[in-house]
Amino acid sequence: MSSANATLRIQDQEITLPLIVGSEGECAIDIRHLRDQTGTISYDDGYGNTGSCQSTITFIDGDRGILRYRGYPIEQLAEHSNFLEVAYLLIHGELPPPSHLRRFRQLVLGNAAIQQSMLHHFSGFPNNSHPMAMLSAMVNSLGCFYPQLASNDRSRELAQFEEAACILISKVRTLAAMSYRMKRDKPFIHPKTNVSYCSNFLHMMFSEPYADYVAREEVDRALNLILLLHADHEQNCSTSTVRMVASGGANLFASTAAGICALWGPAHGGANQAVLEMLQTIHDDGDDGTKFIEAAKSGDKQKRLMGFGHRVYKNYDPRAKILKKQCEDVLDALGLNDPLLDIALRLEEAALREDYFLSRKLYPNVDFYSGIIMRAIGIPVDMFTVMFAIGRMPGWLAHWKELAQAKSPIHRPRQIYTGHPARDFVPVENRPDP
Ligand code: CMC
Repeated sequence: MSSANATLRIQDQEITLPLIVGSEGECAIDIRHLRDQTGTISYDDGYGNTGSCQSTITFIDGDRGILRYRGYPIEQLAEHSNFLEVAYLLIHGELPPPSHLRRFRQLVLGNAAIQQSMLHHFSGFPNNSHPMAMLSAMVNSLGCFYPQLASNDRSRELAQFEEAACILISKVRTLAAMSYRMKRDKPFIHPKTNVSYCSNFLHMMFSEPYADYVAREEVDRALNLILLLHADHEQNCSTSTVRMVASGGANLFASTAAGICALWGPAHGGANQAVLEMLQTIHDDGDDGTKFIEAAKSGDKQKRLMGFGHRVYKNYDPRAKILKKQCEDVLDALGLNDPLLDIALRLEEAALREDYFLSRKLYPNVDFYSGIIMRAIGIPVDMFTVMFAIGRMPGWLAHWKELAQAKSPIHRPRQIYTGHPARDFVPVENRPDP
């Protein structure tokens, strides 16, 4: 907290507002009492310039392309850590000492299986259901299977937070694999007890009752990296949704299920699927990307270059930089030559020569290359957003905990009403038919 102030003049009224300065020097005007003092609210459609909370979890400097979890640069975590350790870091705030990491891993491992009655519940979905719909519904319903962890009694929930968090981190992956198998009319595969988080996921996806799928080390590593890079991204759409829902007092299961729903949209988590579909279209049309880039420059939202641009990054997304390199490594290790990677590389190069993209600071984001890696390891396009949800779960959990511990007030933005002024009701028989 700083002692500096800002002065605001509204017509002939001058008021002093406190400034809040973050640990990296970002500055915010504290307008919480603006309406009480002046009758005026701030207007910020899309919240692009609104700090909705103070948070210690993730730092992003979008202009310089910096991302840090709990102070640790994403590049170092990507190189030296793994998804579960990063999950611990996000939700507890510190890297785990060895014994804590062992306990955390054990809790995740021990919670991978799904109760029999949940299996019945799952089987009720039509098999053409979208995996994101199944995932959000099942994550929400998990709360029914753990009523003691979903009591909506904050102090009890916080006391049992780690157990609930490990259940969610573990089961979201099992449910994701089940949604994949359900869509393909394949029997569910039970988790193993002796393999890593990512290998267990791949086993539940790709093993068959008659043949075990054993993940190669490179594949395990690539999946770990994708999940780790998606683990948190401060106040994005789905995380803000989780915080919003949690601010009303909702439990961890309900709040993270809401996060999954928010993630689904093509401007957020659905973009990775849209990128691959775009690359495939370019490939099938035999285009070199030129037509696509020209169309994207029209300003039509439906024709945007998917995987480009970001609300916060006005520079290269550091996650995209890491994944671009990983893409090449994974394809090399698996001996694959994916024409979509060549198209992506050419598209990036061509777009970054165009003034349209440069002047608007539109660079590749995390979704531009992640799909190519997922495709290389056999994950189908309709599961891409689900993979994002598995990765983002620790971030959602960390934000839920932070908000719960801070006893944050219910989130309730204001609006500027622009509808009809008051008018009298007209009975149906007196209304003209168009
Ligand atoms: N292709 C072409 N033009 C674009 C694109 C794009 N991908 N993104 C933004 N623009 C243009 C936009 O038309 C506008 O132009 P003008 O100033 O002439 O009106 C300008 O750039 C600013 O766009 P904006 O919509 O104000 O930017 P935003 O910050 O609101 O939107 C975004 C960010 C990510 C929604 C947008 O860049 C986009 O739709 N990108 C494609 C979808 C995508 O890749 N989404 C994944 C985001 S990363 C994953 C995540 O963190 O969720």
